[in-house]
Amino acid sequence: MKFFIDTAEIEEIKSLSEIGLVDGVTTNPSLIYKSGKDFKTVIKEISEIISGPISAEVTSTADSEMINQGIDLANIADNIVVKVPLTRNGLIACKELSAKKIKVNVTLCFSAAQALLAGKLGAAYISPFIGRLDDIGSTGLNLIKEIVNVYDIYKKDIKTEVLAASIRSPLQVTQVAQMGAHIATIPPKIITQMIKHPLTDLGLESFMNDWKKTGQKF
Ligand code: E4P
Repeated sequence: MKFFIDTAEIEEIKSLSEIGLVDGVTTNPSLIYKSGKDFKTVIKEISEIISGPISAEVTSTADSEMINQGIDLANIADNIVVKVPLTRNGLIACKELSAKKIKVNVTLCFSAAQALLAGKLGAAYISPFIGRLDDIGSTGLNLIKEIVNVYDIYKKDIKTEVLAASIRSPLQVTQVAQMGAHIATIPPKIITQMIKHPLTDLGLESFMNDWKKTGQKF
């Protein structure tokens, strides 16, 4: 399974990529706002650190403008993926940009029906948002299962990868992996939580203490 990092914070991306845990990066306008940086500058900076796919989202809701912005964003670096919302106009932009060999990530997906449309129009990635469905009392994980299953039935025609998004816990990462999501985009804080386990810390402390007691040097 591939791990993308859901952030526009350069230091976090650098730190996690040092461990080798970053296969790609996803951003959105809210994450750009949080970073406090200029949109295109920060996307360029990320592309200089990460060689995998970097999703940069269009900021218009009109199809022609989304297409122009998508072309512009794709010119920033070879590994830019243009993110468009799952709307009528977003789907038009998905089709046009994909036809130009620009990879598209269709975002804000909340149903398998929506995912089918993006798959049919050549999206490289579909981003179902788990956490936001949970927030309204639905079960986000079910959506991942449905999309993985339906794409699998049509795998000869649909090459779209399922990018599980809006992940809120380490447990959800394991769950989407079990369901066969191709990718999880994970906030840095959750990757850090995934690394940690209290029994690892306790075990290591006791091994280090016992090693000292041996009086040996390595
Ligand atoms: C995905 O590409 C989105 O940027 C992200 O996962 C949204 O997560 P949120 O619902 O926690 O904002």
